[in-house]
Amino acid sequence: MTTKALIIPAAGSGTRLGEQIPKSFIKLSGCPILAHTLRRFLPLKGLVQIIIATSEDFLSEARQILKTEAPESIKTSAIAGGKERQHSIGNALNELLEADLVIIHDAVRPFVKLNHIDACCKAASETGAALLGVPAKNTIKEIDDEHFIRRTPDRESLWQAQTPQVFKKQLIVEAYRQAMNENYIGTDDASLVEKLGQKVKMIKGDPSNFKITYPVDLQLARLLIEEQE
Ligand code: CTP
Ligand code: MG
Repeated sequence: MTTKALIIPAAGSGTRLGEQIPKSFIKLSGCPILAHTLRRFLPLKGLVQIIIATSEDFLSEARQILKTEAPESIKTSAIAGGKERQHSIGNALNELLEADLVIIHDAVRPFVKLNHIDACCKAASETGAALLGVPAKNTIKEIDDEHFIRRTPDRESLWQAQTPQVFKKQLIVEAYRQAMNENYIGTDDASLVEKLGQKVKMIKGDPSNFKITYPVDLQLARLLIEEQE
């Protein structure tokens, strides 16, 4: 059995959403988004550890969610995150116990499907690193400082990265160590592994695993949760 540790970064403030509280703790159908997301992973086979990174102010709330949702057989902890997502995950990596795979998943993607999580884990077991993503649905433009278009990359080869992003433990620990040493900040975890020159496999997911980022995403999430219940 492949053992797995799950890291959930939830320490962001949600600037683009613009709500009073950090978006991971906004309630949908009476439960914090973080709890909805966590539930998606609990049926996963071989899950031995869960680490949640939050701001200091929400540590006790995160601990309460872990206590209510996670079975006692899983080792759980809530730790303080950092300034950037990468710092939050770096802090969480310091808490890792033994596991074959490390799964990193945004707290604000509550609609991820178990078969997609499984597919990422399987690919990461085989290749070392895998993430979920979808083909870009919009044409992507590269622009200059004055907002003139510099380039239109061929859409066929453009995919949008989602989470989960799953890695063999040694690989992600090394990737984070090196990135921190070089003061490199990436916008996802896979990019740090790419910097090591390691291959990362893209697994096709679906758009329902969107990240709650803007107010319209929160509106959609409310509708979808109500529909499910
Ligand atoms: N995150 C984190 N620590 C940070 C920043 C982000 O743990 N310092 C987490 C967020 O809580 C979220 C995930 O990383 O679950 C994805 O980040 P994003 O959607 O950018 O969330 P925020 O940074 O909170 O939002 P914004 O960028 O709009 O401020
Ligand atoms: Mg952010």
